[in-house]
Amino acid sequence: MKITREEKYRKLEQAFPGEVENLIALVGKSPWRQLFHIQPLTGLLNDPNGFTFFQGEYHLFYQWFPLGTYHGMKYWYHTKSKDLVNWENVGIGIEPGGPYDSHGAYSGSGIVKDDKLYLMYTGNSRDEKWVRHPYQNLAVMDTEGNIIKKNSPVIDSVPDGYTEHFRDPKVWGSEGSYYCVIGAQRTNMTGCAVMYHSPDLIEWTFEGEIVTKLDQFGYMWECPDYFEMDNQGVLLFSPQGLSPEADDFNNIYQSGYLIGEKLDVSTRIFDHGPFQELDRGFDFYAQQTTKTPDGRRILVGWMGIPESKYPTDNQGWANCLTLPRELILNQGKIIQRPVRELEQLRKEQSDVQDLLRDETKIYPDFTGTTYELICEFTNVNAQRFGVEFRAGKNEKTVLWYDHQSKKVILDRSMSGEPIESAHGSVRRCRLEADKVKFQLFVDTSSVEVFVNDGEEVFTSRIFPSADSTEIRFFSCGGTVSLEASLWRI
Ligand code: FRU
Repeated sequence: MKITREEKYRKLEQAFPGEVENLIALVGKSPWRQLFHIQPLTGLLNDPNGFTFFQGEYHLFYQWFPLGTYHGMKYWYHTKSKDLVNWENVGIGIEPGGPYDSHGAYSGSGIVKDDKLYLMYTGNSRDEKWVRHPYQNLAVMDTEGNIIKKNSPVIDSVPDGYTEHFRDPKVWGSEGSYYCVIGAQRTNMTGCAVMYHSPDLIEWTFEGEIVTKLDQFGYMWECPDYFEMDNQGVLLFSPQGLSPEADDFNNIYQSGYLIGEKLDVSTRIFDHGPFQELDRGFDFYAQQTTKTPDGRRILVGWMGIPESKYPTDNQGWANCLTLPRELILNQGKIIQRPVRELEQLRKEQSDVQDLLRDETKIYPDFTGTTYELICEFTNVNAQRFGVEFRAGKNEKTVLWYDHQSKKVILDRSMSGEPIESAHGSVRRCRLEADKVKFQLFVDTSSVEVFVNDGEEVFTSRIFPSADSTEIRFFSCGGTVSLEASLWRI
């Protein structure tokens, strides 16, 4: 069915009579609603936005189109939490439709100044000829939670040399000044990130590009994020237009990072190492980070990818956010761990210790549709070993380590309803290890796997039937010791 422009860029008050009620009823019947992930009440969710700690609470907004599961008129939807685990739906954060965000309040970030939360975002506007004009706008939230948009943009044009694809400001403060990075496309159709400077978050000056070694690296960089940790600089971004290279870059679009010397804000030279993917799974994009009061750097991503179709698209809702992860730098690499607060989710626990001898085994109480599972494999003599989960008669999602190729492999080809199988149903990455630990967070329609305490992460949606609840551990071609714990959620 073709959706018209008029239909796509409707605001909530332009919903057809009964439309929202019908959507809510449809969502209510969906078998794949998540239990412990942030998901939209109706419609489509994409990027996390404005992730900040303010007045004792974490505020996390997301890109939201309420009236359909396609990318239409984007709002910022507001959620908040005291503990990064229990999130409250607050309501609409930023409403689009003004002169400088006529076709959507696109992605952006938050920063606290003078007891206010400043939200800087891209106003997506189109003129009568359908030419796009991106504006960088500001909205300010007070201590009562009221959010007021500023009347005019703080950056009202695109500098020479860049196209209309100029968006997603991420702000940070340093030594009494403010900076932001913005994702951009050069007029020669290559992607990059540019930097602005401000004394007060209101007046912004264009400084120029972040100078990286990646001059020809995709056609657009979305959602850049710059921060510093352990005396190093980290630039995250989501480049579009990379071709698959063996096990890397297999999704439609990628997300990854550069680690280097701290960014020199006067020359904007960023001396960095190689681009590395943040996540090895199928559904991860447009991540954003913030800092906790106790100094941790936390990341949340969109558990989805642009232009992907999902089995809930005809059930009135699409997508969710990832669980928050703590980032740690280790030898030129980002290690990602589920935030420790997530232990609050753990309910009844089951444990097992066994030796697997070229066999597949199930254990009492190791079943379910929503749980955390930690399994450690040691004394490896097997060629392959791992776990099948959300398994049933004809379904299973398989996660294993191949000892010969030294690869971790996630296979969702038999997970249930197919998802974008044209982009492959198996993801792999190399891992040199004598023992392997998988930590899985399984929700109704997703899995996040942390491998060896966050050395690698695989984030994926899966759409199994409700009765696919089995967990089966296996070894092939030899023995392996298994120690596993499961907590119901
Ligand atoms: C990334 C993105 C951003 C944009 C937003 C619009 O997924 O395309 O670049 O601001 O989504 O929803």
